[in-house]
Amino acid sequence: MRRKLAAGNWKMNGTSAALSELTTLSDAHPDPGVDLLICPPATLLAAAAQTCASGRIRIGGQDCHEQTDGAHTGDISAAMLRDVGATAVILGHSERRAGHHETSEDVRAKARTAQAAGLMTVICLGESQLQREATNTLDIIGAQLSLSVPDSSTGENLVVAYEPIWAIGSGLTPTADQIGEVHDFMRTRLEKRFGAGVGRSVRLLYGGSVKPDNAEEIFAISNVDGALVGGASLKASDFDPIIRALEGA
Ligand code: 13P
Repeated sequence: MRRKLAAGNWKMNGTSAALSELTTLSDAHPDPGVDLLICPPATLLAAAAQTCASGRIRIGGQDCHEQTDGAHTGDISAAMLRDVGATAVILGHSERRAGHHETSEDVRAKARTAQAAGLMTVICLGESQLQREATNTLDIIGAQLSLSVPDSSTGENLVVAYEPIWAIGSGLTPTADQIGEVHDFMRTRLEKRFGAGVGRSVRLLYGGSVKPDNAEEIFAISNVDGALVGGASLKASDFDPIIRALEGA
C-alpha cells in the first residue's frame, strides 16, 4: 500500500534561524508513521539536510533545471540538489508556472532530469478560479497531468500534488467532494497510462490551505495520500498536528 506523505513547502521563507523548527520537528518524530519531507529554500538545503541527517525527515528542493549542467546563471541542477543531501524536488508549482512562465512541457523535462538523477519528483497541478468557473476542471487537470509527468515515472520517483491555485494561501479549500473528484480522476488516469501496478503506487497529495483544523477531514478523502503544506509547514507547532492527523488517517 501507499505510505502516506506529509510534505512542507517553505517557498521563499526562512533563514538559518528557521532550522530550529526542523530540529523541533525531527525530535518530535523519531519514528514517524508517515513519510516526512521538508522543502526549504535553496540557501538552507545543505544545513537542513545536516540538521535532519540522523532523523527521518527527507529534504527536497523547490525546483531544478532541465539540463544537467551548463551556462544557466542562477539555476540549480538535480545533481546539485543530490550533492547537498536533498532526495526530492517539487516541480511545476503554480507559483513557478505563473512567476517563471513554466509550461507543463518544461515541467516534464525537469522531472525527467530529476528522476534520472535519483530524485523523487513532487509534480504540482491545479486549476485557477477562472478555469474552475469557465471550464471543466478535470480537463485542465488531465492535460496538466499527461503533459507534466514523464514516462520515466514510477511509484517511487513520482508524487503528484493537486493544488487548486485559488486555495493556495487563501484560507479557502475545495469541498471534500471536489477534492475527491480530482484525486479519483488522477488515479484513474495514472492507472490507464502506467498500468495498475505503478498507477496505484503513485502518491497523490492535496495542497492549498491545509491547516491543523482541516487536516483530518482532508485526509479522510479517497485517494488523498497526504498533503503539500505551505504556510502551516513553517512552524513545527503547526505542522506537527497535521503530521499526527495523517498518521491517524
Ligand atoms: P498554503 O498551504 O500556504 O496554502 O500553500 C500551499 C502550497 O502552495 C504548497 O505548495
